[in-house]
Amino acid sequence: MVVYRKLITPELPGYCEHLLRLDPRDRRARFLMPTTDELIRRHCRSLDLPWTILVGAFRDGIMRGAVELVGSPADGMNVVELAVSVERTFQNTGAGTELVRQAVLVAQNRGIRRIKMICLQENRRMQAICKKLHGLLDYDEADVMCDIKVAAATRQTLWQERLEQHSLPTMGVLARRPCPPCAPRPPQVPAA
Ligand SMILES: CC(C)(COP(=O)(O)OP(=O)(O)OC[C@H]1O[C@@H](n2cnc3c(N)ncnc32)[C@H](O)[C@@H]1OP(=O)(O)O)[C@@H](O)C(=O)NCCC(=O)NCCS
Repeated sequence: MVVYRKLITPELPGYCEHLLRLDPRDRRARFLMPTTDELIRRHCRSLDLPWTILVGAFRDGIMRGAVELVGSPADGMNVVELAVSVERTFQNTGAGTELVRQAVLVAQNRGIRRIKMICLQENRRMQAICKKLHGLLDYDEADVMCDIKVAAATRQTLWQERLEQHSLPTMGVLARRPCPPCAPRPPQVPAA
């Protein structure tokens, strides 16, 4: 069974180990360039935790996949960038799709409006995932930009996140960003 949940700060080394297990082809697909161990370590150190949400996919307690949502305070946190990775032996089992779906759910519950993702032209799998989640694809010479519009949160999506992601206290401002007003409140019953 695969468990999906948001990561907490002490799990960053585990995230880094997951990225280091990616083979050269997957590293290039993930970072859009050939990527050494040192570059991966630097990436992990550079994560701006207040503006990052990470969701991990765990099999037998080991992180085998993860999705990263990175926002910036400059745009009021309306738009975030997404990057996802699944280790080779776990690919094509639906984990990538589920991670991105979970990321959309988390974004939805924090009032984020759009998710952007860039992948290589040859990365058909990532493009398939983007289409499944109703993203728009924009092709240029080398890369493909995927743009997913995020719906407003509802009471159901808030419950869904709690139920699906065995929630732990999460790191960062973005992860803790409160839900915007969503479903109308039920009418208050006056005290007898
Ligand atoms: C891209 C990646 C995250 C996908 O994860 P995954 O777990 O292998 O993907 P899934 O099993 O969820 O789904 C793959 C989908 O692509 C489809 N697919 C696979 N090969 C395909 C191809 N050649 N052409 C079109 N679609 C293809 C599958 O049919 C599946 O769709 P379906 O579930 O509707 O059948 C994973 O391969 C990975 O980590 N790659 C390296 C890093 C990377 O590329 N990151 C993305 C850039 S940020």
